[in-house]
Amino acid sequence: MVKIAPSILSADFAKLGQEAAEVKAAGAEWLHIDVMDGSFVPNISLGIPVLKSLRKATDMFLDVHLMIDRPLRYARQFCEAGADLVNFHVEADTEENIKAAIALAKSLGKMTGVTVKPRTPAEAVLPFIKDIDLILVMTVEPGFGGQKFMAEQLDKLRALRQMIDREGLCCQLEVDGGIDPDTAPLAIDAGATVLVAGSAVFGKADRAAAINALR
Ligand code: DX5
Ligand code: ZN
Repeated sequence: MVKIAPSILSADFAKLGQEAAEVKAAGAEWLHIDVMDGSFVPNISLGIPVLKSLRKATDMFLDVHLMIDRPLRYARQFCEAGADLVNFHVEADTEENIKAAIALAKSLGKMTGVTVKPRTPAEAVLPFIKDIDLILVMTVEPGFGGQKFMAEQLDKLRALRQMIDREGLCCQLEVDGGIDPDTAPLAIDAGATVLVAGSAVFGKADRAAAINALR
């Protein structure tokens, strides 16, 4: 069954612990944490201290999406703050440095993923594919919640699904951006195994109904 990872970008930041508890009770498998630095993306969200506090507040699997330049600089701190899985954007640094960030996170016992922006081709994950646990495909330009799903990204999802199956890799395929009850089935059909959803979960009063509507 597909995993649902509510994105706390759309949660109430004044009560993150409570928001996490609510989506956990509502059946969400993972919690997606969007970290933005105002440089890699034109927005600033949250960072290491908030992750540390969340780690104390919940035992949920924390899926950290680093939208920051040169993430190798902070990889250790995000791991030690309590990430379970760290996603590195392939566009955020050189191949060598992204590989080093992956190796560092793995050495600290974490799962790792690489992320591709809408204009980045599927092949960009190839240098990393044997070393990672997850590929994250952005279906909006990263930076903001509540944007429209880019249906043209479905071809990339299908291509990556084929790549994973062909190589026999046990790599999750995650999709992020504009996921709602209409677009979730398209992503699942294209091969996604983890769905990130911000507004479609935290924007709804009934979180259990919202999560079930995505499966
Ligand atoms: C966007 C973030 C997403 C965002 C998704 O840069 O990576 O995780 O929170 O929000 P929705 O589900 O509202 O598109
Ligand atoms: Zn995200």
